[in-house]
Amino acid sequence: MTGAALEVAGLHKSFGALRVARDVNFTLEPGARHALIGPNGAGKTTLVNLITGVLRPSAGAIRLGGVDITRARLERRVVLGLARTFQISSLFAPLSVAENIALAVAAKARIDAQVYGPTYKRAAIVAEVQRLLALFEIEATAGRRVADLAYGQRRLVELALALALKPKVLLLDEPAAGLPKRDSERLLDLLTRLPAEVAVLVIEHDMELVFNFARRITVMFEGGILAEGTVGDIRRNPRVRDVYLGHRRDAEPAQ
Ligand SMILES: Nc1ncnc2c1ncn2[C@@H]1O[C@H](COP(=O)(O)OP(=O)(O)OP(=O)(O)O)[C@@H](O)[C@H]1O
Ligand SMILES: [Mg+2]
Repeated sequence: MTGAALEVAGLHKSFGALRVARDVNFTLEPGARHALIGPNGAGKTTLVNLITGVLRPSAGAIRLGGVDITRARLERRVVLGLARTFQISSLFAPLSVAENIALAVAAKARIDAQVYGPTYKRAAIVAEVQRLLALFEIEATAGRRVADLAYGQRRLVELALALALKPKVLLLDEPAAGLPKRDSERLLDLLTRLPAEVAVLVIEHDMELVFNFARRITVMFEGGILAEGTVGDIRRNPRVRDVYLGHRRDAEPAQ
């Protein structure tokens, strides 16, 4: 058994004739700050769907904290410490921010109760909601309906929901998508404050966020892994520049 938080080994998946995962191998250590990049349609969201159990791989294995979860149900993966946010919002729009977070905290408390016995108290749930509101600096919006929030604030509520599950591995699918520049800078600042022990994988097209957040980067292209390395390795890699970074203004090296 290794100490990896998440291991993906030899993963394959096809949609009909389209191969969306071709022998994907991938490891996240505890506390990883890892980015997954690549052109549209490369298979990044598909990989997250395979890891979280939304999709079944046709071959390969996925291990979470050393436990084989390749065929585990979604709920089991959450119990073992996996959480994600979506490229498209998944909040209860008519409910308030605090209510949305409370639902997630209460769900986590119920999961813990099944594992450890009914030890949680209502006051502890309220305290945890307050802690998450403070962590993401959204206390001022606690009583507002999610439907009335600006888009950037909704994305922060989604992050709070994912953290309510106290994950060991957190998968973020385009957290900055659609955010104005100022909001994506704030998001980056908040991401750097995530608990140090949580392994974080961020899928993003915002290269400024990627280069500032990640310690390692994996590049996907046409369902396969094209390259993996440090930020410097990836920025210098000619194949990565060919298929992706070379087409992007925000990836130009600073002069
Ligand atoms: N349920 C599905 N059925 C058939 N094809 C699919 C399905 N989901 C995704 N695909 C296809 O699989 C390929 C990979 O898609 P995926 O969404 O994983 O790409 P991505 O890297 O996340 O792209 P983006 O950066 O645009 O989000 C694409 O060609 C997509 O059209
Ligand atoms: Mg995607």
